[in-house]
Amino acid sequence: MVQQARREATPGSEVDDIFLQRWSTRAFSPDPLTQSEIDTLFEAARWAPSSNNSQPWRFLYATDGPERELFNSLLRPGNQKWATSAPLLVIVVAAKGNDEGRVFRTNQFDTGAAWMSIAIQAAKMGLFTHAMGGIEIDEIHDKLDLPRDRYDVIAGIAVGRRGDPSGLDEDLQQRESPSGRKSLSEVAEKWAQG
Ligand SMILES: Cc1cc2nc3c(=O)[nH]c(=O)nc-3n(C[C@H](O)[C@H](O)[C@H](O)COP(=O)(O)O)c2cc1C
Repeated sequence: MVQQARREATPGSEVDDIFLQRWSTRAFSPDPLTQSEIDTLFEAARWAPSSNNSQPWRFLYATDGPERELFNSLLRPGNQKWATSAPLLVIVVAAKGNDEGRVFRTNQFDTGAAWMSIAIQAAKMGLFTHAMGGIEIDEIHDKLDLPRDRYDVIAGIAVGRRGDPSGLDEDLQQRESPSGRKSLSEVAEKWAQG
């Protein structure tokens, strides 16, 4: 029986526990997600805010079969070592604009908000997410039919239940622990004139 990971994050100020519950494991159980669970995750993303309500995010996903083999091949080797065990693999892309020629200047910011909605919804469901910048951008454009002038390829996301960390390589097992953060004063500053 695998213990549910409980992150021992230490907040500097009062914050809702859900933000501390979310962390990026690499130890996924292959236990499949139901379609209803998957839909709930993307439903959370749907309601994210975006500039002009442009909703530039697109989430392409695979769970099994040849589609999943393809998605696995779109990860960099370091991420393939562990993310291929997760039952759900998502490729996150952001539209650069619309068919009327409007440019979505904040498309990546908006799409980041939608990814965080997925991450927090997953945490509420007892699921884990792990974003990955280590993906094959060119291959994703080519193999998933995403024209470079229309889409930014942003990241991958592995999603699932937590599995047994002892199945990971030794170096990755060492990283299955809380990660720190910059201090609040480094990231937020009340602006003072002069
Ligand atoms: C956009 C993005 C890209 C990331 N890329 C990778 C990656 O390629 N491989 C990896 O193992 N972790 C990756 N991570 C996970 C981060 O290292 C992790 O979120 C960070 O260290 C904070 O840890 P926490 O998520 O457990 O709080 C990425 C996270 C984000 C948001």
